[in-house]
Amino acid sequence: MLIIGNWKAYVEDPKKALLLLEAAKKLVAIRGKGKKLEIVLAPPAPFLGMLSAGNKSKVSIGAQDVSETTGGPQTGEVSVGAVKSIGVRYVILGHSERRARGESEASISIKAQHVLSQGLIPVVCVGESERDAEATYLHVLRAQIAAVLGPLQPDERERVVIAYEPVWAIGKSAAEAITPRDLHEMVLYIRKSLGDLVAQAAISNVRIIYGGSVDEGNIRVLAEDGGVDGFLVGRASTDPKIFTALIEAVR
Ligand code: PGA
Repeated sequence: MLIIGNWKAYVEDPKKALLLLEAAKKLVAIRGKGKKLEIVLAPPAPFLGMLSAGNKSKVSIGAQDVSETTGGPQTGEVSVGAVKSIGVRYVILGHSERRARGESEASISIKAQHVLSQGLIPVVCVGESERDAEATYLHVLRAQIAAVLGPLQPDERERVVIAYEPVWAIGKSAAEAITPRDLHEMVLYIRKSLGDLVAQAAISNVRIIYGGSVDEGNIRVLAEDGGVDGFLVGRASTDPKIFTALIEAVR
């Protein structure tokens, strides 16, 4: 089970960032009975180095985005090479909050190529803004996946983590998160869509995680009945007590 804490811009205090890292370290140190647990913390960029430096624990550090650039005269841009150099392993790409600021599918795909070429793991966010009775949202989702994964090499595609994050479920209350049954259907649909891009035998290797109002109350049933390989957790990952409860609920 892969749990990624997407801190967004919630965490602004380095002391809090360190507290959250300590909580995560304790959680990965406890051996659970169930599936292997992998925790990734994705802090705001200024905290990446601080959390990575000297981190010998099993907690991985992730970036919330990177630039398309591979370096050079690009003021304000952050290259994959730079985040790799400080020990970052995962990079979230195409989050709906970045897409809302104009990020295109083409740009997400270029970033994913850079991330993969440096040996890091891209976590590509996809998800519809709303649901309609005609199920157009399924086409939206399929098109998003094809646009980002299509330009990658076939063997690179299976290394991408797909984060299914329906925009309508992000940043709400647990009551507004997706139901486990609907999530399960979406995971099956995503695997089916991957059939156009990934060799049949490799489809089950692609990790599909869910994000959108996951908390310590709903994570267990979503994990049990949703068919996912993990979660991308926003707000609930920024409080050490809640994050601990959430991991314990799913362990
Ligand atoms: P949320 O955010 O858990 O606060 O809904 C999830 C996400 O946007 O990654």
